[in-house]
Amino acid sequence: MNSKTLNSFNPDLPVHMSFSEHDWQLLAQYWYPIALARDITEQPLGTMLLDMPLVIYKIDTEIIVAKDACPHRGVPLSIGTNDGQGIVCRYHGLRFGENGKCNRIPAHPNHKISDRFHLKTYAAVERYGLIWCSLLAKKQDIANIPNMPHWDETTYQQLVCPQVDLKCFAGRQLEGFIDVAHFAWVHPETFGDPENTEVPDYTTQETEYGFSADYISDVGRYPIGLDQLGQADFQWLRHFEIHLPFTATLTIHFPNQAKQVIMNAASPITARSTRLFAPICRNYDQDLPIEDAYEYNLKIFEEDRLIVETQKPEYLPLDLSIEAHFPADRSSSMYRRLLRKVGFSPLFAA
Ligand code: FES
Ligand SMILES: [Fe+2]
Repeated sequence: MNSKTLNSFNPDLPVHMSFSEHDWQLLAQYWYPIALARDITEQPLGTMLLDMPLVIYKIDTEIIVAKDACPHRGVPLSIGTNDGQGIVCRYHGLRFGENGKCNRIPAHPNHKISDRFHLKTYAAVERYGLIWCSLLAKKQDIANIPNMPHWDETTYQQLVCPQVDLKCFAGRQLEGFIDVAHFAWVHPETFGDPENTEVPDYTTQETEYGFSADYISDVGRYPIGLDQLGQADFQWLRHFEIHLPFTATLTIHFPNQAKQVIMNAASPITARSTRLFAPICRNYDQDLPIEDAYEYNLKIFEEDRLIVETQKPEYLPLDLSIEAHFPADRSSSMYRRLLRKVGFSPLFAA
């Protein structure tokens, strides 16, 4: 290693960065879901957030999220196994237990273990059936996780859709979720109406964590074929809450006070790959199989895949002069303006 690279070596940054260091330092302060809580066991699970390889494992009830690299020679711990007292590295058998602490070095069983052998761990909490993590938040700080309306109410049922992996930037995906002009074009097989293309004007409002938008239209959310269940004149309110940078909740107001909330939490694995998590809660249809709801929502996300995976440029232009806009883009223009305002680059994740 020459002196230049040695000086710039920072163990807290990913070895391979697909983001600019400026954007990475900002992004790493936020919280993102990294796994479904139901997938976490004692056995290590490997994943990635913002280019940082992570390992997740459980000791008793403690969930540990750590850098997926052994402090000894950099072998991923996600290829090791838990022997009941911690996860064991495949290379020389170092074992990591509570808090990521090394509790065994087989080559020197009687030596005191130096702190240098402990794993680098990250702040993590479970919420909405997901494991959330922040690479730069302090563990003692309150986890700044986006709020999901109605989730904790007893009259609501909670569902956590299987995750969806997309080859796109999280900013493009989130913007697609809050786009109200594409229903007729991309979703005619699920809820959109190809004859209903005009977008009524709507409003947005800045909030302390991003902004909200209220969109009222006659585009329903029942699966097509159900003929809007006799509610031909019903005006549907879609209430969006956007939490910068990549999470939004959508509350859909159905007829008869029925409501469904979908959280679209786009987790940035790299600047070009995104893992989408989608908890849902609803106060109706609770006797129907949850697999049907998973299937329906996954079908909608699959319809969006073609769009988000082919958009060019792949980054999100926060400089509004780069792409053309029409009035129905009120939300996406606001999204881009606010991302710029909190300091992300004009060519976000270019
Ligand atoms: S690399 Fe993990 S124990 Fe040596
Ligand atoms: Fe869509």
